[in-house]
Amino acid sequence: MPGDYLWFEGIPFPPRFYSSEVLRKVRDEFVMRDEDTIIVTFPKSGTHWLIEILCLIQNKGDPTWNHTVPFGERSPWVETCPGYSLVNTMKDPRLFTSHLPIQLFPKSFSSTKAKVIYAIRNPRDALVSGYYFSSNSNFIKKPKSLEEYFEWFIQGNVPYGSWFEHIRGWMSMRDKDNFLMLSYEELKKDLRGTVEKICQFLGKQLEPKEVDLVLHNSSFNVMKENKMTKIIEKPNGNINFPLMRKGICGEWKDHFTSAQAETFDKVFQEKMAGFPRELLLWE
Ligand code: A3P
Repeated sequence: MPGDYLWFEGIPFPPRFYSSEVLRKVRDEFVMRDEDTIIVTFPKSGTHWLIEILCLIQNKGDPTWNHTVPFGERSPWVETCPGYSLVNTMKDPRLFTSHLPIQLFPKSFSSTKAKVIYAIRNPRDALVSGYYFSSNSNFIKKPKSLEEYFEWFIQGNVPYGSWFEHIRGWMSMRDKDNFLMLSYEELKKDLRGTVEKICQFLGKQLEPKEVDLVLHNSSFNVMKENKMTKIIEKPNGNINFPLMRKGICGEWKDHFTSAQAETFDKVFQEKMAGFPRELLLWE
């Protein structure tokens, strides 16, 4: 049974893949390089979609790598115990992933030209997605109900803590040249335009036909069929990783009661007061 959390610097982590020692090393000792590209998100904001897109861009749309190597090996989560070991053995240019809030991100980042792609998603949809994910996976604390998960989310008692603090922290980077902010909603609305924006940010030039391949191979249906986005094989058995679920915007409307919608709006206004509205990309 998945237990409670491992707490590090006030942030909850699912205990199975994390340790305080590695989290500390990632923040204090890990050396980032100018050639690194890192996908950073709050969980359930389209992380795997971006991994798929970036791996495809790297291979000009050819899906062979995506279809033969699990996503966690193509773009490991640097803060997990297995991911940290893997990232340290990778050759340049490295691609890796993180859900860390900015205060736990490698300190060495500030002195490199490493590129961060930060994606946000309407937190209401991230909440619903997180509810299903934790209810169905076998390594995260399970909520009894959506009501319970709603409370956990608002209080920041979900993996990686408070959505609000995560966003506020990372947004302090938004004027930097090596920081690109995207949204799940933008990917849904204009995938081609967003892929082109990513290519430009990374300095990659793809032919229109290669972009077509990226779009096709990162579509929901193709990703759903790709076994390499489904399951991580471990020596001690498969880890259930129910990743590709609905893939839509606005699902929260079918899940929140009107009282919950009102509470969420109130909390949102309090916690995001003064935050530039143009950065809340789903509005
Ligand atoms: P839902 O649970 O709302 O369906 P993450 O990768 O950060 O864990 O986010 C998972 C969410 O991204 C899931 O949302 C999943 O369905 C969605 N997703 C993954 N790939 C997608 C794609 N190609 N198109 C649309 N949504 C996608």
